[in-house]
Amino acid sequence: MANERRCSVRLLVFGASLREGSMNDSLASLAAAVAQEKGASVERAVMTDFECPAYDLDVELSTGLPVGAQALHDKLVATDGFMIASPEYNASMPGVIKNTIDWVSRFRPQPFNGKQAFLMAASPSMTGGKIGLWALRQPLARVYPDMFALAQAHHAFDSSGRIADGKLQNWFETTIECFIDLVEASKHYPHLKKQWVEFLGERPDTETTRVELGETAAV
Ligand SMILES: Cc1cc2nc3c(=O)[nH]c(=O)nc-3n(C[C@H](O)[C@H](O)[C@H](O)COP(=O)(O)O)c2cc1C
Repeated sequence: MANERRCSVRLLVFGASLREGSMNDSLASLAAAVAQEKGASVERAVMTDFECPAYDLDVELSTGLPVGAQALHDKLVATDGFMIASPEYNASMPGVIKNTIDWVSRFRPQPFNGKQAFLMAASPSMTGGKIGLWALRQPLARVYPDMFALAQAHHAFDSSGRIADGKLQNWFETTIECFIDLVEASKHYPHLKKQWVEFLGERPDTETTRVELGETAAV
């Protein structure tokens, strides 16, 4: 049920698997549907929109940022937060999503800055791919504390694309609603805006190119 009192919240939702029939893409579709039910406007994308060549500074300097990185940049700029459903590969994130994050991190202003992220995974394993999400947290700026990992995902969805276990579906919906609350607060309560420092130890001064100041930054 949409919350009629909610201020506008725009979310980008995509799965980080390239393959057709991806369980993570199914989870992303479900998350997108739930977010819309909870009052958010949703832009749905797929990982193939954001594919990039392997990051190479020489390529960046000679030909600029690739089309896939530009596509994710543009969608991030137009949104308030994003949700990724990512497979776990060898107890980490797939190389394709890390590579795209590396490229997108080269834009200035940095488009991840100020955008809240919610991370999900689906896997046939019993852990649901949660270990990979711990890796995916690291390069992203603001990540919601709760993450959602769908274990035995090849058996988890019902014929309508929802999670067959009703309690788990409810928990999924509640968690997404709380995430949307956070994005709404972050967007609409100015006192939550903070300056963002990419690497610990950097000082916010004009000599430091990787520091961006928020609207109310003052330290
Ligand atoms: C290279 C590779 C490594 C994988 N490593 C893991 C892993 O560490 N943990 C896990 O739960 N599943 C692992 N899997 C299985 C994936 O979870 C499974 O292929 C899943 O379907 C991928 O997500 P998708 O359906 O969205 O493409 C791995 C699969 C591949 C191809």
